[in-house]
Amino acid sequence: MTPQRKVYLNGEFVAEADAKVSIFDSALMFGDMVFEITRTFNGKPFRLREHLERLYAGLKILEIDCGLTIDEMEKETHHTIEVNRPCFPDGLDFQIMHDVSRGPLGFYQSIFPEGARPTITINCWPLTWHVGAFADTYETGVHAVIPPQRSVPARLIDPKIKNRSRIYYQVANQQAQKVDSKAWALLTDEDGFITEGTGANFFIVKNGELFTPEPRNILRGVTRDATIKFAAEVGIRCHECNLEPYDVATADEALFTSTPFVMMPATRFNTQPIGTGAVGPVTRGLLNTWREVVGVDIVAQAKQYAKDAES
Ligand SMILES: Cc1ncc(COP(=O)(O)O)c(C=O)c1O
Repeated sequence: MTPQRKVYLNGEFVAEADAKVSIFDSALMFGDMVFEITRTFNGKPFRLREHLERLYAGLKILEIDCGLTIDEMEKETHHTIEVNRPCFPDGLDFQIMHDVSRGPLGFYQSIFPEGARPTITINCWPLTWHVGAFADTYETGVHAVIPPQRSVPARLIDPKIKNRSRIYYQVANQQAQKVDSKAWALLTDEDGFITEGTGANFFIVKNGELFTPEPRNILRGVTRDATIKFAAEVGIRCHECNLEPYDVATADEALFTSTPFVMMPATRFNTQPIGTGAVGPVTRGLLNTWREVVGVDIVAQAKQYAKDAES
C-alpha cells in the first residue's frame, strides 16, 4: 500500500485530512498570509531557496514573525520532503507548498490555550493534475484575454508579496472566461500596460527577442527569472519594458511562465491569432532549453500525467 502523505502543521506532521486551520485565523479573515509553490524536477526541488527568500520578504513587509528563521524553514521543508518521499514513485514530480499566516486574531485568543501563534503549513502534492491538465495546451497554446478587472497596483497591495488576497484574480478569470470558457486572463495596470496572468508571468516574442513587463506591478516569478537567464544562455535577449495590448496583438509569439507548468504558449489574444496562431519556434526552443537544464521533458511529462490522471 502507498504510504499516506503528511502535512507539516506548526511543527507536527498530520494526515492531509487533519491539516485544518481555524476559522478565526487572520488568513481567513483578511487573506492575511503569504505562500509559495516550489516544484521538483526528478524529485529535486528547483530553486527552493529563492522561493523561501520571496516568502521571507513578504513576511518581513507584513511584519509576520513566523518563529522560524529562513534556514530553519529550509530544514523543515527538506524534512517534509523526506517524510513524503515514499509517497512519490520515481518519475512522479511534486509541488511543495508553503502557507504562512499571522495566525488567529487576538480577539479569539481565549479559545487557543496554547496561545495564538502564526500558522505554518508545508505540504507536498503530486503534479499529476496541476501539470496533466495542460498536456494539450502545450501543443495548441492558450487564449489570453484582457478582462475589465485590472491588476491591483503596487501602491495598494504589492504584488511582489506572494499573498493570498487574490479575489481580483478570480474575478479576472471569470470575466475572461465569458469570452472563451478556457481563456487565461491577462491583466493590465492602471495605465493599460500588460502586467501578468493570474498565476503566471507573461512574455512576447518579436523578431526573435523576448519582451516582458518590467518587474514593477507584478510578482517577480522564479520561473520568469530562470527563463530570462536560460534564454540569455542560448543567445536570446530579453527586454523588460512596458508592453501594451497592441504589442501582444502584433507579436510573433507569446507565453506564460509559472512554477508548475513552467512555460505555456499563448497562441490567441483577445480572439485573434498571435503570429501564425501556432506554437512558435522560440517558444519550442525555450522549452527545449528548459528540458536540457532541468533534465525533464516538460511536455512529455504533462502528457504522461494526463494519462495518469485518467486512470
Ligand atoms: C500572480 C502570479 N504571477 C506570477 C507567478 C509565477 O511565479 P513563479 O514563477 O515564481 O511560480 C505566479 C505564481 O503563482 C503568480 O501567482
